[in-house]
Amino acid sequence: MKWSSVAVASGLFTSSNALLRFGCSQLTVQRLDPLVNPGLIPSTHLHQIIGGNSFNASMDIKTHDLPTVSTCTTCQFTEDFSNYWTAVLYFKAKNGTYKRVPQRAQQGMEGTNGGMVVYYMSDALFDTAQKSSVTAFKPGFRMLVGDVTYTTRDQARDFRQLTYTCMQNEGTRSPEYVDFPKTTCPSGIMINHRFPTCWDGVNLDSPNHRDHVAYPESGTFESGGPCPSTHPVKIPQILLETVWDTKQFNNKADWPADGSQPFVWSSGDGTGFANHADYVFGWKGDSLQKHLDSHSYVTASTLKTQTIAQQNKCTVKDMVGENFDGWLTKLPGDIMA
Ligand SMILES: *[C@@H]1O[C@H](CO)[C@@H](O)[C@H](O)[C@H]1NC(C)=O
Ligand SMILES: *[C@@H]1O[C@H](CO)[C@@H](O)[C@H](O)[C@H]1NC(C)=O
Repeated sequence: MKWSSVAVASGLFTSSNALLRFGCSQLTVQRLDPLVNPGLIPSTHLHQIIGGNSFNASMDIKTHDLPTVSTCTTCQFTEDFSNYWTAVLYFKAKNGTYKRVPQRAQQGMEGTNGGMVVYYMSDALFDTAQKSSVTAFKPGFRMLVGDVTYTTRDQARDFRQLTYTCMQNEGTRSPEYVDFPKTTCPSGIMINHRFPTCWDGVNLDSPNHRDHVAYPESGTFESGGPCPSTHPVKIPQILLETVWDTKQFNNKADWPADGSQPFVWSSGDGTGFANHADYVFGWKGDSLQKHLDSHSYVTASTLKTQTIAQQNKCTVKDMVGENFDGWLTKLPGDIMA
């Protein structure tokens, strides 16, 4: 049985059993990237960001302590002041103009303003025991998955688990593809980012924000594959699910006549192979480790929650001052796709 049908059949995502799965509403949409373009206002392309409100153009690895500087978070668990971000999806019309695709909340989280659903896992999603020991991230830890310069399927294979799902209905979780769906998707496009699960145990970051983490050396995270000796520390798998609400763009008459698909990333990529996401750890104290050690299929009894209304209230101010909505002749940053 696929996990999605298990979820629906057994109420997997109620608080009675669980792995860590929670909603985070939109914190902000801005052309900022404290990881890849620190201090640059604006950064190269537009991002959509969730998490703690200490998010800023630069977040110094030594001095910017997210739980200390943040006063609120858009995530359901109030100990999580981390930031998570991805590029933004646009629809490219036949006349060459672009319109931002809205995001929507998932079932059970209705009322959440856009954002994403975040998972932390010790073992595969379908493994209810979640019994592996994993080491929570340390303050200052950050990483990037994916590569904004990638344009081919072969390149995209470097990252095993950055995928697109064409949702036929709310429960659709497969198949997952590494490029944009070629057909209209009645319930939107779910884009998944799964981060690597092995850490070198030393570095909180690396020059390309990727080399300090790695995938299992054989098998997969899901099959319990071992970490390589260069990156021996097993860290939780973070999965981000973003649902892009493409409904208003599903009129096939508006799609390109040559059979290609009309969606592009804010970075200018129209293939989907440049899919990427960023993470800056910001859980308070040892709250994440404590939770992981409980091996609960997330009762999350050690964590505090807030309401969706409270999540939606947390935002940051506009630091860039640019219009990224309406029909645009160029993507923010003068990018053409
Ligand atoms: C962002 O950084 C600027 C410049 O360092 C600072 O003035 C501002 O208070 C910071 N904002 C937040 C929300 O931390
Ligand atoms: C371009 O196409 C879109 C979608 O059909 C339409 O809403 C918009 O008004 C058009 N813009 C121009 C300048 O024709």
